[in-house]
Amino acid sequence: MEFIYEPRLAGTTRYDLTFLQSVMGNLLRNAWHCTDQGFVRLTLLKDSFVVEDSGIVIPEEKRHAMFQPFVRGDEQRGEGLGLGLSLVQRICSRQRWQVQLVTREPNGCRFTVTLLATQEADGQARELPAA
Ligand SMILES: Nc1ncnc2c1ncn2[C@@H]1O[C@H](COP(=O)(O)OP(=O)(O)O)[C@@H](O)[C@H]1O
Ligand SMILES: [Mg+2]
Repeated sequence: MEFIYEPRLAGTTRYDLTFLQSVMGNLLRNAWHCTDQGFVRLTLLKDSFVVEDSGIVIPEEKRHAMFQPFVRGDEQRGEGLGLGLSLVQRICSRQRWQVQLVTREPNGCRFTVTLLATQEADGQARELPAA
């Protein structure tokens, strides 16, 4: 299994480090656990990054469920509680980032995360009415 790092576009935009580490870390850890052969690839783009692997495919009908807390796949890999993707989802919606999952043919998954700068996300948060 090969790890491929492709920093294609280096931007100067700043993102919340803790949230970014958590999202990227969870996606990379999952990819690592779910891939026996081939590669895990991290690609950095302008305002987004992609974690792709050549491992297990998540069937279309299970894709939504995998983002729910405590849900794990049939083939349970590594130690996990099934919370990683739900955390990814929650962080992304809080930061107004977007996470998209598509299947790679014939094997693997591709998670694309579209980012929004910290100030923009904070600015929006401040505009929300106080609860
Ligand atoms: N890159 C991936 N390739 C294949 N299946 C994945 C991948 N990432 C996540 N999954 C599936 O989604 C499930 C939920 O992931 P997650 O919420 O991180 O929980 P956990 O890693 O604790 O099992 C995993 O159990 C696995 O079945
Ligand atoms: Mg996980």
